[in-house]
Amino acid sequence: MPKKKVEEIFDKYAEGYSTGEFKPSRYDEVARTAMSFADDITWHYLQKYAPRDTNALILDAGGGDGYWAQKFIELDYRNIVISDLSQGMLDEAKKRLGKLSLKHNAQFIKADITDMKDSFQDNTFDYVFSQYDAVSLCMAPQNAMLELGRVAKRGTYIVVSLDTKFRRVPEFIEAKQIEAARKLLRTNVSVEFGFPQYNLTWEELAKYFEYTGLEVVEVVGAPVFLHQVDEKVMQELEKDPEVRKELLKVELEYCTTKSLINFAGHLQMIGKKK
Ligand SMILES: C[S@@+](CC[C@H](N)C(=O)[O-])C[C@H]1O[C@@H](n2cnc3c(N)ncnc32)[C@H](O)[C@@H]1O
Repeated sequence: MPKKKVEEIFDKYAEGYSTGEFKPSRYDEVARTAMSFADDITWHYLQKYAPRDTNALILDAGGGDGYWAQKFIELDYRNIVISDLSQGMLDEAKKRLGKLSLKHNAQFIKADITDMKDSFQDNTFDYVFSQYDAVSLCMAPQNAMLELGRVAKRGTYIVVSLDTKFRRVPEFIEAKQIEAARKLLRTNVSVEFGFPQYNLTWEELAKYFEYTGLEVVEVVGAPVFLHQVDEKVMQELEKDPEVRKELLKVELEYCTTKSLINFAGHLQMIGKKK
């Protein structure tokens, strides 16, 4: 039931995902704020663990409108598979990648991250990632992790990101939704945009990685400090490229500090299939 709702909502907002009302703030010219730093940190670690061989076969699960796939294609990786539950989002990804002049063999597969057996065999991919929430929106993170682990080849990296749990508590309190804050703390579930999602601590996500047989290699908060700064101040600061560079440097120095991660905007975890 929740899965259907998520699919419907992403289908509904897919067209114009990068321009419409529902767009992530990464596409906002004015108010990019903490999200733009989250993207930069996320991208830093996606590149760090990417295979050196640009012929590698990459899976972007819950890949949405192909934002990360485009970035890899621009680095000359050409064999990328984007899977997603929402056909609408996959159509947006097709449009986006169709506009690129660079050669690539991108494939677009409609698949639920919790069960991709009809689409992908075991030990298929040289790099597997799922950024921003498919693992939590599916409401069965353990099944999603098992699938990501199953389709990755041995010795390859798997990178997952989702919203952190404790960051949401002050957000709910600010919105005077104390019951929602309590429910989240009790159940790990929050509801936003009309569908539920899991919010996890890094320790909880690490358990899912370990359960899957993945060694946790690195844990990242994106961002750890800037998420706490007033948005208007952030907008001002971000305008100066030198200040922005310095702020990103500070974030990259501290984003793997475990004591900061559970309050970060997003939680990114890198695992290795044994
Ligand atoms: C917030 S968007 C992020 C998209 C993309 N990964 C990015 O970082 O820009 C979450 C994506 O997860 C997809 N999704 C949600 N539940 C899913 C599921 N059970 N299986 C596969 N994809 C799912 C949605 O359709 C949507 O495209």
